Amino acid sequence: MCGITSYCGDRKASEVIEVSLKRLDYRGYDSVGVAVSSESGLDVRKGIGGIDEIDEELGLGNMEGGVGIGHTRWATHGKVSEENAHPHISCDGRFAIVHNGIIENWDNLKEELDGCSFRSGTDSEVIAHYIERKARESGVEDAVREFMAEAEGSFAVVLLDSEKDMLFAFKKGSPLALGIGEEEVFVGSDAYAFCTYTDKAIFLCDHEYAVLKNGEYVLRDAEGRTLERKIKRINYDYTQDVDSRSDHYMYKEIMEIPEAIERLDGSLKLEQKHRLEEFQNKLKNKDRVVLTGSGTSYHAALLGIYFLQEVGVEAHATVASEFKNYGRIDENTVLVPISQSGETKDVLEAIDYCRKMGAEIASITNVPHSTVERKSDANIRIRAGQEICVAATKTFTNQLYLLMKLAEGLGGTKLGKNISDTIRRLLDSNEEKIKDLAVEIEGKKDIYIIGKGETYPVAMEIALKLKEISYIHAEGMMGGELKHGTLALVEEGTPVISLIPNGSSEIVSNVREVEARKGNTIKISPSCGRFNIPETGTKGFVFLSTVLGFLLTYWIASNKGLPIDKPRNLAKCVTTK
Ligand code: F6R
Repeated sequence: MCGITSYCGDRKASEVIEVSLKRLDYRGYDSVGVAVSSESGLDVRKGIGGIDEIDEELGLGNMEGGVGIGHTRWATHGKVSEENAHPHISCDGRFAIVHNGIIENWDNLKEELDGCSFRSGTDSEVIAHYIERKARESGVEDAVREFMAEAEGSFAVVLLDSEKDMLFAFKKGSPLALGIGEEEVFVGSDAYAFCTYTDKAIFLCDHEYAVLKNGEYVLRDAEGRTLERKIKRINYDYTQDVDSRSDHYMYKEIMEIPEAIERLDGSLKLEQKHRLEEFQNKLKNKDRVVLTGSGTSYHAALLGIYFLQEVGVEAHATVASEFKNYGRIDENTVLVPISQSGETKDVLEAIDYCRKMGAEIASITNVPHSTVERKSDANIRIRAGQEICVAATKTFTNQLYLLMKLAEGLGGTKLGKNISDTIRRLLDSNEEKIKDLAVEIEGKKDIYIIGKGETYPVAMEIALKLKEISYIHAEGMMGGELKHGTLALVEEGTPVISLIPNGSSEIVSNVREVEARKGNTIKISPSCGRFNIPETGTKGFVFLSTVLGFLLTYWIASNKGLPIDKPRNLAKCVTTK
């Protein structure tokens, strides 16, 4: 997790880094820090909180110097404190480092560094001391290579050498990109870090490093040989400001769902047409398809089972963090990893595992040029645009849209026409009712959401958002399972939201079981309940119920004054195990 950014060129480095950190703070917002190489040595400023909270107090944009590094942290190793905030500095004050990842053998490396004074409780600090010690013996570049060879775990690191005004960017396992400008170079955990300044990027591979000086860069491999790499043009769909009707990206991103679907649909007919066909061929030609993902993306994977099984594809879904406990991967398998960020560590591990077992990889991602995309044999981008709120909304609905289109091309039932306009009208005509419901249930301790078939993953997804954004304990479950235990928790007034597409009589009987216990049954359905929901068939209903669920969680969180876009303890991109 964590976001790293750096600059080397003629501009004021801290100004660039300040802008970058604002773009990266979805990766973590426990603490922020910047180090710039100034005439009098290193200028280091750091503090607890996200960039917007501490920027002014620390004057992060006003540091003198053209070479610098910045970091926004999501704590993994070591509590949230100023000492643990990056950058970390070597004892002699020459080197500063920012790091994303985990150095698993940090304690072994530390043992070799007797005499160093460690100031933090992080694994990352060891990098600064290690480089200082080794650079004395063999020079900085050799020290970087030795570190890459010796360090275990995952890392993306930028090292600032204040004596030479140079940066060294190196990585294994965690993502790192160079942004290429005119006589200036940027570094970022992803390309969004420098999207304000350049659309040209190079993505570093594991065990490679870049040396940056005077606005220029050289790329080298683990043996120090110079590498040539093609520069990629990035087509950013990045988000600018929040909607005028709300102070939150989550609201803006829910409202963007229709246009995100239209963008994806257009791209599947034009520039991604071949990718779609290639993907469909892979699904058709193997014995088995295994979908995987984490959190919300896992819920999309679950829905993928229903869509693919309908067209005769043997489809399974398994959560990425438990992937290795799933036994049936071989050369007759296609793995479909689904990941908005394309950087989720558990998903990357599932890919590596499947690759070893001989499976093919056909992935679904949002962030362009992500590690998941680069590790895949085939890939489709869901083109939802940048999603800033930690909670996934428009990316989930675009994942679903793509899965439906994949199945449709293999003979699956068609999603009704113009789902995006239907969602627009749904949002318009139901928002006030959703706000009323939010007031009605915002004080509840537990909420249950029940679905059946395709609406079961939707129930799970709404429950996840209630926990994540509204801080309410919620369970999404199969309606039929209620009577096997959970019904014991339903008392007078307990909210039970039921997702009832037309014709779903079984779930109606589950609703009756709740009513008989005086639970508060809230029906989301085209045929009953308090909302205006058009009849769209089950596939359409999957979208409509999801969107209403998202809006409900948003308004509950808003009424409670919660930090909607940056919920506590979470970050958008989970690059640790
Ligand atoms: C929930 C949420 C997370 C992510 C999960 C996977 O709203 O956003 O559960 O879905 O961390 O992230 P990606 O899709 O980037 O792999």
